[in-house]
Amino acid sequence: MKIKLIENIQSDIKVEFLNEKLFNNNKNKEILKLAGFDASQDSICFLHEKRILVCGIEDDDSDNVRSVVSVAIKSLKSSNYESATFSVNKKNIKAIIEGLVLGGYEFNNYKSDAKKSNLQIVYLSCKKINDFTQAFSEALIIAEATCFTRDIVNTIPHDLNPPSFAKLAKNLAKENNLDFNILGEKELKKEKMNAMLSVGRASIHDSKLIHLTYKSTNPKKIITLVGKGLTYDSGGLSLKPATSMVTMKMDKAGGCAVLGIMKAVSELKLDIEVHAFVGAVENMIGGDAYKPDDVLVSRSGKTIEIRNTDAEGRLVLADVLTYAQENVEADYIFDFATLTGACMVALGQYTTGVMGHSTKLKHQISKSAISSGELSASLPFNKHLKKLLKSEIADISNTASKPYGGAITAGLFLDNFIEDKNKDKWLHFDIAGSAYTESAWDCNVYGGTGAGVRFMTNFLQTL
Ligand code: BES
Ligand code: ZN
Ligand code: ZN
Repeated sequence: MKIKLIENIQSDIKVEFLNEKLFNNNKNKEILKLAGFDASQDSICFLHEKRILVCGIEDDDSDNVRSVVSVAIKSLKSSNYESATFSVNKKNIKAIIEGLVLGGYEFNNYKSDAKKSNLQIVYLSCKKINDFTQAFSEALIIAEATCFTRDIVNTIPHDLNPPSFAKLAKNLAKENNLDFNILGEKELKKEKMNAMLSVGRASIHDSKLIHLTYKSTNPKKIITLVGKGLTYDSGGLSLKPATSMVTMKMDKAGGCAVLGIMKAVSELKLDIEVHAFVGAVENMIGGDAYKPDDVLVSRSGKTIEIRNTDAEGRLVLADVLTYAQENVEADYIFDFATLTGACMVALGQYTTGVMGHSTKLKHQISKSAISSGELSASLPFNKHLKKLLKSEIADISNTASKPYGGAITAGLFLDNFIEDKNKDKWLHFDIAGSAYTESAWDCNVYGGTGAGVRFMTNFLQTL
């Protein structure tokens, strides 16, 4: 399905937004009422004879527009119309594109007879094309980068393992003119990335550290992005129960988000330098598996007592964060990870947990999340929770001694691997809930959501 900006209207069907007031004054009100349409948010109704699709919105807030367009595009795609037109203005163009691209997203790679949609083209009709081209192409780049992230998240662990993840990243780098460096197990040993390597030891696949770089000619800021790339998390010897293991292909979503952000940033040609580091690892069981009771020496030199092999993401991130800080002198350091089930308990499934020391930076991110249509909330650190990571036998334990506040104690574990000079430059994003869904909400459909791509790209655009 193509999306095209035009000045005149010529399509099979026209889409109209109606709030309560517009509905009450609408000339089709009586037929719409008969059909049961009441202009409530996310309700839609086809007037086939008039070639109109009406969409109910509470008001013209972007979140509401994006949401109803997501509903409308699904119906249009399963109709027999080949083209449709939305009238756009400065305020709603971004939300309409997000609704179309993200709400209309489908992942059919594993369906042998996926139904092809008849809808070939969606026109966005505006007054003067020139006034809209920039907003149009920016919104499209970001939405498509989000779908790119979704595609990788949705790819099954048989197809997407650490080596194929690295290959995919290399292809992205080649297509988008990024520098790349991939470290395999030999190099990782040399780099003393022992915490990361231990997690991947029982896997038949080699662990990989992916490093991509985007450089503009005169970068204003340097940004480091770190992603948890667990291509599968079985829990390891602290094996997950069967029902919790299903969906754990999504444990690479942090790494996938980081790649999506690199795609967006390079296509938007932002005036910054961005480094992406992804720890691509598979957490499996086997005779060679790392164990509860082991003590690992991390790259930083800190020793970690393993009490649960399912708290593996923080081990990978500890080493990758250390490596990233040693290799890049960044102005900002952001990590993205499906780190804890506890984050979902705390915030619900839809919201990204934001952790770190800088109130100012957390506030900036919150603003970007709001204007990009993602949900985020801050989970505050405190010194009492930090004490729960104490180990009797090593420098730190990989799990907290009490179960409450698990998302925050995971964040505080990572804090142990952030250098003092970087404390205020760093934020941790727990996307355990927001990165994947098994039921559609907002512009998200079943599977990966691409959480993180929109709010981070929005933040980077403000620099
Ligand atoms: N990948 C999981 C976290 C997760 C759970 C993500 C559900 C998405 C959905 C992570 O590696 C994990 O298993 N964490 C443990 C930590 C615990 C052992 C301290 C958890 O959340 O239970
Ligand atoms: Zn785990
Ligand atoms: Zn995990």
